[in-house]
Amino acid sequence: MDSGEHDTPLYLRLAQRLQSGIEQAAMEEGARLPSVRTLATQYGVSMATALQALRWLETRGQIEARPRSGYFVAQRPRRGKRAGAAAAVKGGAGRWAKPAPELDAQARDHLAIAGEAAAVRLDLASAETSLYPVERFGVLLRRLAYQHRDLVGSHVRGTGYPALRAQIARQAMRYACELDPDEIVVTNGCVEALNLALRAVARPGDVVAVESPTYFVLLQMLRALEMHVHPIPSKPRTGMDVDALRQALDRGVPIKAVVTVANGNNPLGSVPGDAAKRSLVKLLRERDVPLIEDDIFGDLCFGETRPRPVRAFDDAHGNVLLCGGFSKSLCPGLRVGWIAGGRFTERVKALKYTTSMATAELQQAAVAELLATGGYALHLRRLKAALHGQQRALREAVLRYFPEGTRVTDPLGGMVLWAKLPEVEGRSRSTRVLFEQARTEGISFTPGHLFGEGDAFDDCLRLNAGNRWTSELQAAVRRLGELAARGE
Ligand SMILES: Cc1ncc(COP(=O)(O)O)c(C=O)c1O
Repeated sequence: MDSGEHDTPLYLRLAQRLQSGIEQAAMEEGARLPSVRTLATQYGVSMATALQALRWLETRGQIEARPRSGYFVAQRPRRGKRAGAAAAVKGGAGRWAKPAPELDAQARDHLAIAGEAAAVRLDLASAETSLYPVERFGVLLRRLAYQHRDLVGSHVRGTGYPALRAQIARQAMRYACELDPDEIVVTNGCVEALNLALRAVARPGDVVAVESPTYFVLLQMLRALEMHVHPIPSKPRTGMDVDALRQALDRGVPIKAVVTVANGNNPLGSVPGDAAKRSLVKLLRERDVPLIEDDIFGDLCFGETRPRPVRAFDDAHGNVLLCGGFSKSLCPGLRVGWIAGGRFTERVKALKYTTSMATAELQQAAVAELLATGGYALHLRRLKAALHGQQRALREAVLRYFPEGTRVTDPLGGMVLWAKLPEVEGRSRSTRVLFEQARTEGISFTPGHLFGEGDAFDDCLRLNAGNRWTSELQAAVRRLGELAARGE
């Protein structure tokens, strides 16, 4: 296909040509489309581009994928008012709805990963259910709902259950991070905390610097908020390159805020040293740029002492909005997160009120009680030991079964591994294709392109080490390695 003739991405142009081809050739429902390989050869594009085009058509309901068989023309909507309306939207020579923005393509990829059943889950960043104190929560929730009827029967007021806010501040003291319970707002997961933080410090059109690679929901959130991303290179052991951030600021990049997942970074597993954290705080304070820190993996770092958040080095300046939560460390399904807003606290509180008003209190009360009774420390010790062991086993298997030259991180915390595939004959491999192939065999992982802009990490993949190591898991990693070795 011709390249560079206009701004429409190559995969979209291919999708549009396929769509009109289907119509012009009057292909019937259920008719089989050419294979990814044939399309790539015929249209002179990469397999990844051909696949992206097919998936674009699939998400619009034009075609459907059948496991191990390929893609087929989907059932068409029956004629009627709705079909007429759809035709009107398509209108004119274009016939197609306006191309969806990139956010939608990425969000769909994510939903496909998270929402789909898979025999072997290597995609999410979450430990398996048996590693969390689920029964204990069951008992606690029942007892609290019975004893404290107002937890369920009254309207929720305020910015969080007071006992939980106090416990969060008390926990932070263990690693010399001073938080005021009054600056803490309890949120629906750490994701809501990040969302409130971004909106408290930046507006649509503003530039926000993030680590590269970074947590893909953060990238999608920034796009949804119409903020621009400025990627700062990040290293597997030490995290964000503070010098690169300084240079960007010196060059005049109008960075309005910086987001870091400093401790147990997702996806790299990095933990910067205290000196790097100090210099980040100092730099941003000098330039009057707020820092949003996501510390959700802080409690899951493997070292002897719990690493301090960057916020701990900010003294009383309030320039760091610290976001945290218990979805990784204690109870994924309860969706309890929090934000300590520093000097932005009042803005965060106002945003919380108009976003979701409040967070349900029953689960907050349960988490508060578990933290207060000391069960958390013991649980954490066990969970961290399990995660560390699982990560080592997974890493060894990747090194053993993946193509020679595959590089894989050796994380200092968190629950994921990040791997980079070697080139084949001077060309890098796309994990988008590998993702599709593995998906048809019931193995899921997170493809690297979601963690950056464009194709920056197309040859990388993230693997969840939250599952107990079993022979089934080992077989799945071996199979993934075989598929990766094919180099398609
Ligand atoms: C860095 C990071 N922040 C936040 C979250 C989501 O937190 P929650 O489920 O509490 O919203 C995740 C989940 O993977 C994550 O990796």
